Amino acid sequence: MCNDARTLDELKVMTGVCTTCDGCKSELEKILLSVCGCKGVSLKEVVDTVADGADTIEKVGKITGAGTDCERCQALIANIIKLGR
Ligand code: FES
Repeated sequence: MCNDARTLDELKVMTGVCTTCDGCKSELEKILLSVCGCKGVSLKEVVDTVADGADTIEKVGKITGAGTDCERCQALIANIIKLGR
């Protein structure tokens, strides 16, 4: 089972997010706090939901609400699902 990401290295392992380009770097601190800003869903909530069997973006959205508004975070959720398999 995954725990909360507390460092950028943990975040990279858990989400597959890029930690080198400026575009991603500016988002890293926000992602550590919340994968989905629209719905205020934490990384831990998404990782736990995937670990509990949610294997699609739609299932994660139905359970947590993440990814159901602007959909910008769906690529991140997809990475978490992929890494959680
Ligand atoms: S950031 Fe997740 S739906 Fe907008």
